[in-house]
Amino acid sequence: EKVPVRLDINGQKHKLSIEPRTTLLDLLREQLGLTGTKKGCDYGQCGACTVHIDGKRVNSCLTFAVMQEGKEITTIEGLANGDKLHPMQEAFIKHDGFQCGYCTPGQIMSAVACIREGHADSDDEIREYMSGNICRCGAYANIVSAIQEVKN
Ligand code: FES
Repeated sequence: EKVPVRLDINGQKHKLSIEPRTTLLDLLREQLGLTGTKKGCDYGQCGACTVHIDGKRVNSCLTFAVMQEGKEITTIEGLANGDKLHPMQEAFIKHDGFQCGYCTPGQIMSAVACIREGHADSDDEIREYMSGNICRCGAYANIVSAIQEVKN
């Protein structure tokens, strides 16, 4: 049986009717067409589904959408300011922080949170914070460079 839920996503209010067990990830991708958030593993192991809830990073595959009422959800689609990319998006481009790009939205959402939460003091600290975001292409060194640039 579906339940009503009101969600604030990228500054837009949505009034929805959903199955209680719908993950935030499936809601974003399948009901709202926000497919920038990726499904890699669907069980909390890869970070491809990373979004921000009230500014904190969260694996949206492990999060029930109904529990997010009244919170501010931000996805990769909400990071740019109109036509102007977020500085972290610019830095990923400049430093080649991706190859195939599948993990990139999740990497960027984690990278923004890494600095915001104060875990970007050293390369090691950045690597530790970012360790939940898997990149099969192995772009890790360039991702760290991108984060360092935005931090400085
Ligand atoms: Fe959520 Fe992999 S899809 S962590």
